[in-house]
Amino acid sequence: MFSHLTKLPADPILGLSALFKADPNPEKVDLGVGVYKTADGRTPILGAVEQAFVRLSKEEGSKVYIAPTGWPGFTEACAELVFGADLRSDLGGQLGAIQTPGGCGALRLAFELIALSKPETTVWVSTPTWANHVPTLAAAGLTHSPYAYYDHGSASVDVDAMLNSLEGAAAGDVVLLHACCHNPTGADLSMSDWKRVAELLQARKLIPFLDMAYQGFAAGLSEDALAVRQIFSSQPEALLSYSCSKNFGLYRERTGALFVKGEQKDAKEALVTNLAQLARANYSMPPAHGAALATTVLEDDELRASWIDELGAMRSRVNGLRRSLAEAFKKEGCGDRFSGVARQTGMFSLLSLTPEQVAVVQKDKSIYFPANGRINVAGLTDENIPYVAKAIASVV
Ligand code: LMR
Repeated sequence: MFSHLTKLPADPILGLSALFKADPNPEKVDLGVGVYKTADGRTPILGAVEQAFVRLSKEEGSKVYIAPTGWPGFTEACAELVFGADLRSDLGGQLGAIQTPGGCGALRLAFELIALSKPETTVWVSTPTWANHVPTLAAAGLTHSPYAYYDHGSASVDVDAMLNSLEGAAAGDVVLLHACCHNPTGADLSMSDWKRVAELLQARKLIPFLDMAYQGFAAGLSEDALAVRQIFSSQPEALLSYSCSKNFGLYRERTGALFVKGEQKDAKEALVTNLAQLARANYSMPPAHGAALATTVLEDDELRASWIDELGAMRSRVNGLRRSLAEAFKKEGCGDRFSGVARQTGMFSLLSLTPEQVAVVQKDKSIYFPANGRINVAGLTDENIPYVAKAIASVV
């Protein structure tokens, strides 16, 4: 049965962690997997989350199963965060929600719902997109097409080229968009770009699917949700996969949600029951712990305020590192080649490097990031920035 299976290469992102760990070079730098790090290289449990944990350990009282839709109150609290109170109430019975095992679980469940409803659907993905998008949609039996997105020259989105490629989509196709902090480029659409995208989606009857894994890392919680709000208020149908991995620091707890807007006023029941059945056939129900923590934080004024402060501190640290790295590249004589890093948002920037150049930097300088040139800016520190800038400048 299994004898024809051969060993596969490591995951292009997650595989870097093991290589980094095994490297004895004391100067090594990990710019691989997208996790937030402090100045001393730690990915701590957030203070508000820790307090929620203490509270839960006293109050939870049971580990009995939760429903396939998740921890009570979790999707409602996330919906409030993303859609805001007004839109959430406007969406009313049109919005189906389910807790999922992380943002990746939300993507997979959404793709399965799409495959169940219309198996011939093509999913349009940005060039480039997160390395796991295509494997996840393919695992659900869907096909994909690329749309133009990133312009390496200006280190920003080429929205004309993007709209031009989406003209080729057929009615009913799904367009996968990054709600904010585009992974891997760090380049987001402006709000006027989003308006143009929304108009095209509506005119061509395309279905937007927003993937949101970094709410709060670009400009702020509600600022980062503007695109989601615009799309969900203007389009008859839409999907949103949501992750609490980064903004709550809950990575390993696999805490996420999927929201689907249906066209009919009472679409919710059909959406939720179908999603729950797909979940049941996959993993029965999502893990409770992370969602319980996030819900505890969001439902308590004090914990919520302290979480918002911690999130703001993470955001400003990453934005500061962006500016310092761009400066350091200038000092190394790179001119404006990498100045886009300072303008981009979220954890990542896509440096214009070839896979060969990335391999040299890894081999000779022990700096680890994926072969497409994506760096996790949060892995930088004031101490390692000159070293990183020099190493990268030496290969371009
Ligand atoms: C990343 O893009 O580095 C993160 O989202 C982690 C992952 O699962 O790839």
